[in-house]
Amino acid sequence: MMRTTTLGSNGPEVGVIGLGCMGMTFSYDMETPRDEATSIAVIRQALDLGMTLIDTADAYGPHTNEELVGRALAGGHRDRAVLATKVGIVRDSVEAADPSNNSADRALDGRPEYIRASIDGSLQRLGTDHVDLYQLHRVDPQVPLEESWGAMAETVAAGKARHIGLSEVTADEIKRAQAVHPVTSVQSELSLWTRDALAAVLPYCQEQGVAFLPFSPLGRGFLAGRFASFDDLPRDDFRRGLPRFQQDALRANLAIVGRVREIAAQAGATPAQVALAWVLAQGRYVVPIPGTKTPKYLADNAGAGDLELSAAHLAELDALPAPEGARY
Ligand SMILES: NC(=O)c1ccc[n+]([C@@H]2O[C@H](COP(=O)([O-])OP(=O)(O)OC[C@H]3O[C@@H](n4cnc5c(N)ncnc54)[C@H](OP(=O)(O)O)[C@@H]3O)[C@@H](O)[C@H]2O)c1
Repeated sequence: MMRTTTLGSNGPEVGVIGLGCMGMTFSYDMETPRDEATSIAVIRQALDLGMTLIDTADAYGPHTNEELVGRALAGGHRDRAVLATKVGIVRDSVEAADPSNNSADRALDGRPEYIRASIDGSLQRLGTDHVDLYQLHRVDPQVPLEESWGAMAETVAAGKARHIGLSEVTADEIKRAQAVHPVTSVQSELSLWTRDALAAVLPYCQEQGVAFLPFSPLGRGFLAGRFASFDDLPRDDFRRGLPRFQQDALRANLAIVGRVREIAAQAGATPAQVALAWVLAQGRYVVPIPGTKTPKYLADNAGAGDLELSAAHLAELDALPAPEGARY
């Protein structure tokens, strides 16, 4: 069984590695028909392995991801999961049909009335009367954070969420939210090729006992060695629009994966396990949520919970070059 930690200093116990469900219905590889039975099996396998933090969002699909997770947790599995969803990014069906369209038409909505109304839809799709973690997906620049966070706190008071968290915020925004209601977690990108959070956000979370949930900890699959060329990316796939995956940048970035592969061979592990073990080594209360819809990859990722990298390997990984290309 996987090692456990707590979701920050006051949250529930969780396996040190969780499961991100986004790619099961959204963003990646949209042309291949979805294999819902396998995705449901992966979610239940994650619970069997002790990867109890299950992460979704109402924006993924939209809605299809929460519906899928709801079906996976039906039949007695709900209580085994620490169930996390998100609110605040609005996608209509037109946008959802075009996963490469990530920013231009994406609408943020952090209005209190929107948050109050959205939680009920999420609970209904997830087939539960409460989520364990309700996260504000993005801060809406049109709405004072304190107002959005106040509405998030109301979901706790109403018994619809046990804890609340933020995503992609600055340390200053965490502080502002804390003045209104405790912040249980912060979800932001962190991986061998995206280290921005190490400067201020993660240290602040550590100091405050706030859980830090690295998203895309495998560099959207790249750090696991999945892609050797732009043409390896599925045709209808969000990554095709990201700077780091463009042909020239991707070629340059293969040097990073090459070194991860060498360290993996020396450590008797896979590249994905090395990438996750490095993330885990960044601090207490760090719970990465790698995404997969593949049973073999899930088992691989679970194995990273037991991989302890040597100080020399950690130092080498710390010193890897910065990637070519921006994050978005
Ligand atoms: N808060 C936010 O704004 C935000 C943004 C992005 C993501 N997220 C969350 O973070 C989760 C994870 O991020 P992500 O899915 O973007 O990226 P990721 O976890 O870095 O990578 C996912 C990709 O890696 C592949 N993969 C997984 N394990 C592997 C292994 N052991 N070996 C080889 N390939 C492997 C997956 O393949 P298959 O899927 O084909 O199995 C998928 O293509 C999401 O599911 C979502 O819950 C949150």
